[in-house]
Amino acid sequence: MVSVQSSGAQPPSVPSTRDRRVSLRVGAIAESATLKVDNKAKSLRAEGRPVIGYGAGEPDFPTPPYIVEAAVAACREPANHRYTAVGGLPDLKRAIAEKTERDSGLTVTHDRILVTNGGKQAIYAAFATMLDPGDEVIVPAPYWTTYPEAIHLAGGTTVPVVADETQDYKVTVEQLEAARTDRTKVLLFVSPSNPTGAVYTSEEIRSIGEWIEAHDLWVLTDEIYEHLVYDGVKTGSLPVLCPELVDRCVVVNGVAKTYAMTGWRVGWMIGPADLVKAATNLQSHATSNVSNVAQRAAIAALRGDLTAVEAMRDTFDRRRRTIVSMLNEIDGVVCPMPEGAFYAYPSVKGLLARHHNGRTFDSSAELAEYVLDEVEVAVVPGEAFGTPGYFRFSYALGDDDLVEGITRLQRLFARQSGT
Ligand SMILES: Cc1ncc(COP(=O)(O)O)c(C=O)c1O
Repeated sequence: MVSVQSSGAQPPSVPSTRDRRVSLRVGAIAESATLKVDNKAKSLRAEGRPVIGYGAGEPDFPTPPYIVEAAVAACREPANHRYTAVGGLPDLKRAIAEKTERDSGLTVTHDRILVTNGGKQAIYAAFATMLDPGDEVIVPAPYWTTYPEAIHLAGGTTVPVVADETQDYKVTVEQLEAARTDRTKVLLFVSPSNPTGAVYTSEEIRSIGEWIEAHDLWVLTDEIYEHLVYDGVKTGSLPVLCPELVDRCVVVNGVAKTYAMTGWRVGWMIGPADLVKAATNLQSHATSNVSNVAQRAAIAALRGDLTAVEAMRDTFDRRRRTIVSMLNEIDGVVCPMPEGAFYAYPSVKGLLARHHNGRTFDSSAELAEYVLDEVEVAVVPGEAFGTPGYFRFSYALGDDDLVEGITRLQRLFARQSGT
C-alpha cells in the first residue's frame, strides 16, 4: 500500500498531485513552433486561402524512386513483419558505417551505432543517456527548438550562448568559456545549423574541439545537414577533426534531409559503446526497433550514390541566393548569406522599430502573426529559436512560391515605410 501524506498548502500555480492531470515535466513542453506554423499554413490553405509557407523544415522533393522500390519489396518480405534487433538491422548498421567512413572519414564499429526513429529520437536518447539532474548543456543560440526540450526532459539545464548576425551566427571559444561552470557536461554543436544555415570552418571546429578536450566535456554534434553546404566551404566532422574526443562525442545523423525522407523516420546516433548500449536499453522499452520497411529503404538510400542530394543542393543554392537578395531589399531586414542547410535567418529588428499601418509590434512573434494576417505568408518567429527579433524562412519550397511570398513582404513593408 502506498500512503499519501499531505504536503501542506501548495502554491496556487502548482496543483496538488491528485489534481494534476499532466505531469509537470511533460506539461512544460511547448508545442514545436516550427510544426505549429507549418500546420497553421496547411490548414489555412485547406480553407482555400493562398498562404505561402516558409515554415517546413523538409525538402519539397519526393523520395528518389529506387528507395521507394526497396521499401515496396521489403513490405512483401515476411521477415520484415516481425520484431527485429532493437538497435537496428545489421545490414543498416553496416551501411551506416560505410556511409560514415565515405562521407566524413570516421571509422565506426556496429556496437557504436543505434538506429532511431529519426534524428529527433537520437537527440532525445542521447541527452537522456548522458545527463543527470542539474547537468548543464551549452547550446549556441539561435538553436533548433527541440534541443532545449530534450535537455529539459532529461533533467538537464540549457545554457544558451547567443551568436547573432554580426558574428555570422557562430559562437566563439571565448563565449563558450564564459558560459562554462562546474556543472557543464555537454556542448551541443550543429553545423550546418538549423535555423541559421551557419557552417563552421575546419579551423573553427578544431578550436572548439580543443576547448571541449581541455575541460573534459562531452559533445553532441548534429550532422543532419552535412551534405547541404554551399560556396565550397571547407568544413568537416567534429570527431574526425578532433579524434581525441571520440570517447566523449555523440554524432546524430539520419536520412531525412539528404534523401528527402522526412516521413520515413530513420536516424541514428554514433557514440561510445557504453553510452550506445545504455541508449539501446532505453529504446528497448520505449519503441523497440524502427520500422523494418523504413530501415530497408534507408539501406537503399545509403548504398546508393549522392546524385539526388547533389541535384537538391543545386536547387537549394539557387533559391538561397534569390531569397537572401530579395530579403535584403526590404528596408529594416538584414539577412546574412547562409552557407548551409535550407534556411535563411534575417534580423527583422529594423521592422520592429517602425509603425505598420499605424501599429507597432513588440516582438517578432507578433510581427509574424501580422504578416500572416495581412499577406498570407507564414514564417517562424525568432522566439522559437531563443532569439527574438528574427524570422526563419525555410527555402525548401517551389521557386515561384518563394518569389511570390517575398514579393508580398516587399510590398507590405514598402507600402508602410515611414508611416
Ligand atoms: C538540426 C536538426 N537536427 C535533427 C533533425 C531531425 O530530423 P529527423 O528527426 O526528421 O531525422 C532536424 C529536423 O528538422 C534538424 O533540423
